[in-house]
Amino acid sequence: MKTTDGFVNVAKVGEIVVGGVKVVRLDDVPVAIFHLDDGYHAIEDVCTHDGGPVAEGCLVGDVIECPRHGAKFNVKTGAVVQFPATAPVPVYAVRVVGDDIQVGWS
Ligand code: FES
Repeated sequence: MKTTDGFVNVAKVGEIVVGGVKVVRLDDVPVAIFHLDDGYHAIEDVCTHDGGPVAEGCLVGDVIECPRHGAKFNVKTGAVVQFPATAPVPVYAVRVVGDDIQVGWS
């Protein structure tokens, strides 16, 4: 369900453990929502190197490693941390309203 200000409910608070991730599809785009120590962060779950499912990789701190060829991305900024990817992944706003985790999706 999309809110009037362009956010979509993607999970309930408590559903994603700290250090964990949930992948949802929004308009057929896979979006990974990570729960870090400082809150929730969302990126497009498509590696910019060759389309790998980034969120299936290993998360260390705020860096996720694509399981396909080892590119690393900062999940807070989408920035490339390690080759072979060279382009950042899109990031999306995340907020908590009541017990709903919402992603900005306009
Ligand atoms: S598809 Fe992600 S590193 Fe190649």
